Amino acid sequence: MTDHSTKYVAAIDQGTTSSRCIIFDQDGAVVAVDQREHRQIFPKPGWVEHDATEIWSKVQAVVAGALARAGLRADRLSALGITNQRETTVLWDRATGKPVHNAIVWQDTRTSALCRQLGGADGQDRFREQTGLPLASYFSGPKVAWLLDNVPGLRARAERGEIAFGTIDSWLIWNLTGGTDGGRHVTDVTNAGRTMLMDLRSLQWAPSVLSAMNIPEAVLPEIRSSAEVYGTAVGQLAGVPVASALGDQQAAVFGQACYDVGTAKNTYGTGSFLLLNTGERPVPSKSGLLTTMGYKIGDEAPVYCLEGSIAITGALVQWLRDQLGIIRSAEEIEPLAASVADNGGAYIVPAFSGLFAPYWRSDARGVVTGLTRYVTRAHLARAVLEATSWQTREVVDAMYQDSGVRITTLKVDGGMTKNDLLMQHQADVLGVPVIRPRVSETTCLGAAYAAGLATGVWQGLDELKTHWQRDVEWAPAMEASVRDREYRNWRKAVEKSFGWME
Ligand code: G3P
Repeated sequence: MTDHSTKYVAAIDQGTTSSRCIIFDQDGAVVAVDQREHRQIFPKPGWVEHDATEIWSKVQAVVAGALARAGLRADRLSALGITNQRETTVLWDRATGKPVHNAIVWQDTRTSALCRQLGGADGQDRFREQTGLPLASYFSGPKVAWLLDNVPGLRARAERGEIAFGTIDSWLIWNLTGGTDGGRHVTDVTNAGRTMLMDLRSLQWAPSVLSAMNIPEAVLPEIRSSAEVYGTAVGQLAGVPVASALGDQQAAVFGQACYDVGTAKNTYGTGSFLLLNTGERPVPSKSGLLTTMGYKIGDEAPVYCLEGSIAITGALVQWLRDQLGIIRSAEEIEPLAASVADNGGAYIVPAFSGLFAPYWRSDARGVVTGLTRYVTRAHLARAVLEATSWQTREVVDAMYQDSGVRITTLKVDGGMTKNDLLMQHQADVLGVPVIRPRVSETTCLGAAYAAGLATGVWQGLDELKTHWQRDVEWAPAMEASVRDREYRNWRKAVEKSFGWME
């Protein structure tokens, strides 16, 4: 039932495997959801692509679906917010609106050699001071360079100003606000910060990095804050202000109300991303974390985070289902894993895209260790879940080394938080309580909050904080000696994943 006295805000979450639209009311409660998956394209080992045109049509479909489910017309929406898979790179023709190539997805490793070459004698940290990031195939800049060098004739067209680059937020905002008919070519600081082309302090494109990667300025969108009106939507959302953009992990920080220094959240999706709010100054990392933007609300000071990015967590469950056929649905993993008391000695390190934080090893590939004839598919299912919590533990340890902040509780969200066994194991291996909020759709919620702040639906962060409510809490229960032994075994398995690729 819709209410005539409340305001509504819609958010689009364009993720790695699916697109969703959620409509929220003024209390931050979910009114309606619609979701659709899009194709994952794997042209070669290590390569991952998406069809940006398909993504745009799926986004339009979920917006229509959510409005229909809510029984609302677009003119009841006070604002629209955008959140998205980060780093995924689209180049399109400004005149036709057509992508010039499939989007190169954040998980794609085709630029590993290019990254090594760019690092030269300075190595992986060549641009870290300025951008907060190590040189890795994860980020957009090298993907743009690869496209300009490998799509015939593209570089010349780009230099003539005919080509636009965007992460998925830019691609969607451009289309939502008119496309070839006056679409706005913008991005926000959280997304721009993941290209490896933005200076973390000036929040502008960094000329020295652009020239090192040979990327012409003419392709770049304008960098804006995360919460302001970028333009007005056309089409089915005609008249609705497009009023926020945040990378999905930063949107979850915002939706989880991590507004105070020292607050942290972990989102369990395709991968997992743990972000710690470090306040108004960027904190450099020496332990393999990223220094990244948290959010920037209009003219206010930017807020920075330390991030531990884990490439593969939920995707390992999908792999067990789709590639190995050990389970038929993702939900089956929990009862299967719970049917045995432990992992039977097996550990799986899912280094499918190399290993991200805290290692940044593009030479790593997945390994299964500890196999004996005793190990069953149930033990492997358990090892799959445990891989998520151990990777998270490594990132939490790195955060402590970098910031001196010991996380006392961990706020969690994302699909895998429905898995009780996993969440208990997570609390066990961290030794701190793990807490899931009542609205677990924190990514969309964060984008909606930012859009609502920009348009006066909500007045400020204190008001938003009052919406956050605890749903479930998992308390640590594992004996320290067991935890320490298992952690040592996990680390041995990680060592075995190194050195498989040149
Ligand atoms: O950096 C990649 C991240 O933004 C992807 O998130 O939830 O689409 O797997 P997700």
